[in-house]
Amino acid sequence: MRIIRAKDYEDMSKKAAIILGAQVAMKPDSVLGLATGSSPVGMYQQLIAWNQAGDLDFSQVKSVNLDEYFGLTAQNDQSYAYFMYHNLFKGINIDLKNTHLPDGTNPDIAAECARYDAVIDSMGGVDLQVLGIGGNGHIAFNEPADCFKMGTHCVTLTQKTIEANARFFDRIEDVPTKAYTMGVGSIMKAKKILMVVNGEAKAQAMLDSFFGDITPQVQASILQMHNDCVVVADEAALKLVDEKFPGAVK
Ligand code: GLP
Repeated sequence: MRIIRAKDYEDMSKKAAIILGAQVAMKPDSVLGLATGSSPVGMYQQLIAWNQAGDLDFSQVKSVNLDEYFGLTAQNDQSYAYFMYHNLFKGINIDLKNTHLPDGTNPDIAAECARYDAVIDSMGGVDLQVLGIGGNGHIAFNEPADCFKMGTHCVTLTQKTIEANARFFDRIEDVPTKAYTMGVGSIMKAKKILMVVNGEAKAQAMLDSFFGDITPQVQASILQMHNDCVVVADEAALKLVDEKFPGAVK
């Protein structure tokens, strides 16, 4: 795996957009695994700018998203479906029928997990999976646990994650306590992984995930086993890595 140093959020976003843009330019019918959260927003803005300038075409791209809150409709402005539409899909020429997320409104957990796994399988493999990281090292909504999960499942969010995500909601009580998420097994099957990490709040997660033991207590640590994983991290996120392992990230 490779860690690329970026100056700040803007630099991280541009570098990550170049990598994702190159993927789409090289393979116009790429299957992209997409992520929500504040980390990829700047990258999405750059992709929108390139698309609108006519430099990058998404008309043949298909996408699968990592996760969705349980109980929220796509029209709810806190849902990840809403986030994806407003932060990326409406700005690019992707065909909306080729975009997929778990259906947060399906109360039948077993059926929804099976349906979403079948959607992922029907794509024939994710070419590039975008990831952010939680402060506790979670990827998608795979929270610290005693094992790594393979397929889509429904999780109960940790208090730490609920608190971290409360910034997007009016009141902490409004943050859903459960979510559908792709499993780490599905994430690991992607041909290429592109993680974006910024800010000092992620410095411990960076250190634990990429310079510590591989453990389900730090779910992102499994990415050390992936053979094509690129992490674009800014200076603030690299603070503890630089202190403990000077020179490890050029
Ligand atoms: C959420 C999402 C993750 C995301 C993480 C970090 O919990 N499920 O996919 O990576 O938050 O979010 P942010 O980028 O806003 O820090």
